[in-house]
Amino acid sequence: MKYFLDSAKLDEITYAYDKWGIDGVTTNPKHIYLSGKDFKTVVTELAKEFEGIDFPISVEINPHLDNADEMITQAKEVADISNNFVIKIPCNEAGLIASKKLGEAGVKTNVTLIFSASQAIQALRTNPTFISPFVGWKESAGENTDEYISSIVEIVDNYGYQSEVIVAAIRTGKQLVDAALMCAHITTAGMAVYRDSFQHPFTDFGLKKFQEAWDMTEK
Ligand code: E4P
Repeated sequence: MKYFLDSAKLDEITYAYDKWGIDGVTTNPKHIYLSGKDFKTVVTELAKEFEGIDFPISVEINPHLDNADEMITQAKEVADISNNFVIKIPCNEAGLIASKKLGEAGVKTNVTLIFSASQAIQALRTNPTFISPFVGWKESAGENTDEYISSIVEIVDNYGYQSEVIVAAIRTGKQLVDAALMCAHITTAGMAVYRDSFQHPFTDFGLKKFQEAWDMTEK
């Protein structure tokens, strides 16, 4: 399973790429705001940093756009900045009309803000590069997401769709494991979620025990 980092902070992204070998990045307007930089600066820096490397970076267009033609125009402008850019398009009627046309024009898309398997089918029929069903928000609302994600993965397999499923808005290590068990292609999560998943209290406990034994052993 591929790990994408959900972030727009260049220092985090380069660390995760260099040290952990992350496979891609997903940004959104919230992450760009949190980076403290403006949209243009963030996308220019990301384009430059990964120039010549095959590294998918999802960039969201203006979320106020509600007309497919305007979405297409802006998506093409952003996609022209870097071959790595995959344009995030919202999963609604206008977005999916735009996604279909963008695919036909050779622009890579990531249909985002998916919250049901029926939305996923509509998205898949437009042949995007990625679809992003969210789990964190649904689970925060008390919903179980296992059946929803496994249904989406099964639908992709049943029809041989080429789109990869990114399980998005991951908050916990369990959600990472669940995504892998559901055979999702990719997860996207923030730095803290991936960092936490390296750890277990028993690993620290065990290390301490072995350090004590090491220190007591004659060398
Ligand atoms: C995915 O592509 C989104 O950027 C992301 O997962 C949104 O969720 P969050 O910012 O609430 O984690």
